[in-house]
Amino acid sequence: MLEADLGTFGAEAQSHRAPQGHRDQGDKRVKITAVYNLKGGVGKTAASVNLAYLSALSGRRTLIWDLDPQGAATFYFRIKPKVTGGRKKLLKGKRNPLEAHIRGTDFDRLDLMPADFSYRKMDVALDDVKKSRRWMSDVLASVASDYDVVFLDCAPSISTTSDSVFHAADALLVPLIPTTLSMRTLDQLREHLAKEGLDELAVWPFFSMVDRRKKMHRDFMADVSSDEAYFKSVIPNASQVERMGIERNPVPVFAGGTLAAKSYLNLWGEVEERFGFLDPLGGS
Ligand SMILES: Nc1ncnc2c1ncn2[C@@H]1O[C@H](COP(=O)(O)OP(=O)(O)OP(=O)(O)O)[C@@H](O)[C@H]1O
Ligand SMILES: [Mg+2]
Repeated sequence: MLEADLGTFGAEAQSHRAPQGHRDQGDKRVKITAVYNLKGGVGKTAASVNLAYLSALSGRRTLIWDLDPQGAATFYFRIKPKVTGGRKKLLKGKRNPLEAHIRGTDFDRLDLMPADFSYRKMDVALDDVKKSRRWMSDVLASVASDYDVVFLDCAPSISTTSDSVFHAADALLVPLIPTTLSMRTLDQLREHLAKEGLDELAVWPFFSMVDRRKKMHRDFMADVSSDEAYFKSVIPNASQVERMGIERNPVPVFAGGTLAAKSYLNLWGEVEERFGFLDPLGGS
C-alpha cells in the first residue's frame, strides 16, 4: 500500500486498531494537550475536535476547552457558547472555577468548556492577574482529577493566554500546512518557547491539509522526514473535514472508514504512544 493511502509519511505507518472503550493502567495524571499554531486556518480546531472525540472513544475522560472566541469547537459539538458570569467569574479563583461552565457533549466521557465572547478580554484580564503564566495550570488543576486528557483548542495568536497555555501544557500539537510560511511559524514558536524558558516543552508538529498532488507539499514533507519530532501521521486535505461544519460532528462519526477518519485515528494512536499510555487499546 502506498504511504499516501495510509495518511502517513516518512517511516512506515504504525498500525492502530480501533479503540474499544478501555482505560489503560498507565500514567493516570491528566495530560494537557494544547493544539497550537500562531497561524490561522491550519486545522487546529479540526484536530482538537477529532482527537478529543477519539480520546473519549478510547475510554479516556476527556475535556476540550475552546479557547478561541470564534467558538468553532463549541459550534462543532452543537453547544451554545454561553458561559454564565463570563471571565470575571473564571478569574475569581474559586476552588473549582471551571466546573460551573463545563458542558457535556453528545458523546460519553467527552466534555466541553465552551468559548465565550468575553474571552476576547481574557488577555487584558490575565495582565491584571498576578503570575498570569500560572493561571491556566492553576485553573486546570481544579479539574485534573476529573479528566485523563484535556485538549486546549487555541486561538491563532501569541498572547498572555497562549503563554499561560504553554506553561500548563504537557505537549503542544502543532498542525502545519507544508508551505514555507506555515513552516516558519514552527521556528517562531520554538524561539518564543526558548525565551519563555520552555525549551523542554514537547512540541509535536504534524502535517495538516496535505495535498500530495502538490510538489511543494511533498518536498517540504520530505525535508523533515528524518526529524523525529514530527508525527508520522498526516492529515490530508479532505472534503470530509470541511463537512464537519455541516454535519457538526467529528469526522469518524459521519465518515468513518475514510482516509480522513483513519488519519485522525493514526494520529491519536501516536499521541497515545508519546504520552506513554500503556496498552491503549486494551489488547488481550
Ligand atoms: N484536513 C482538512 N481538509 C480540508 N479542509 C480542512 C482540513 N482541516 C481544516 N479544514 C478546513 O479549513 C478551515 C480551517 O480549519 P480549522 O478551523 O480547523 O483551522 P484553525 O487552525 O483552527 O483555524 P483558526 O486559526 O481560525 O482557529 C475550516 O473551514 C476547515 O473545515
Ligand atoms: Mg480554530
